[in-house]
Amino acid sequence: MRDHVFRHRHLLGIEGLTADDIGHVLDLADGYVELSRQPEKKCSTLHGRTLINCFFENSTRTRTSFEVAGKRLGADVINMAVAVSSMKKGETLIDTAMTLNAMRPDVLVVRHPESGAVQLLSEKVDCAVINAGDGGHEHPTQALLDALTIRRRKGRLGGLTVAICGDVLHSRVARSNIALLNAVGARVRVVAPRTLLPAAVERLGVAVFHDMAAGLKDVDIVMMLRLQLERMHGSFVPSTREYFHFFGLDYDKLKLAKPDALIMHPGPMNRGVEIGSEVADDIDRSLVRQQVEMGVAVRMACLEILGRGPAASNGPPLK
Ligand code: NCD
Repeated sequence: MRDHVFRHRHLLGIEGLTADDIGHVLDLADGYVELSRQPEKKCSTLHGRTLINCFFENSTRTRTSFEVAGKRLGADVINMAVAVSSMKKGETLIDTAMTLNAMRPDVLVVRHPESGAVQLLSEKVDCAVINAGDGGHEHPTQALLDALTIRRRKGRLGGLTVAICGDVLHSRVARSNIALLNAVGARVRVVAPRTLLPAAVERLGVAVFHDMAAGLKDVDIVMMLRLQLERMHGSFVPSTREYFHFFGLDYDKLKLAKPDALIMHPGPMNRGVEIGSEVADDIDRSLVRQQVEMGVAVRMACLEILGRGPAASNGPPLK
């Protein structure tokens, strides 16, 4: 895997990555997990490079994770505060992209509420762009960090059965995970009420279940998704109490999975809505905290791959 050539200039989604691309990122990330556990966590891989974090949508863990990752690699990290940015004054996304581009960053990390906005921005700039979540479309570094978490705990990805449960309809995390898990040969199920599944979801390469009892039977990984109330216009579930009763994860439902099945959640969690506190905090079964740790390592790997290449820093001269 060491000689693998990552042929992509940007990381806009998992769609289009090969199993080797994914394996390459995860192998590099394994090394960064070790580095991050040392008292001295910094290296100079991206010394002198500039990373701009550009979040047009709220984020705590993803933005912080990219910031920590960039700093550990020795890059200069700038967080663009969207609340006070020109976007609020009516500047278009393209104008913002051109303005940032003129500052000659090496990597732009972008989150945006509209699907496709990050790709559009990537077409207008000279540096590498990493999608940190675009609307309901993709969130590739989340899927990569989930894969790293699973691979380190289970020793493999291929052949495992993963149930992705809950609000698949609004979830870019689900889309990216489905693409990644299919690419590496895992079996993927989605478990959700019909109102929270996209039309023709089975075309994404998943088995579809509408009740937790059948959906969780014999799975290795139970991945819970947040009910994304902020993206819902209209009524998708009768009440959050009823939702928890039928689709929330508790020990009764977890019993149906394999005895060593592990629980994941991308965060932020709605306790008592999609997941009960006892299972979320069960240190033997829940990988939620490991996911956050793996997030930094995976983002370091992605930043190294995309931020170091000559293409990233030598855009055409600005006239
Ligand atoms: C996810 C996101 O923003 O898509 N969170 C994250 O990045 N950790 C999932 C969510 O918001 O529910």
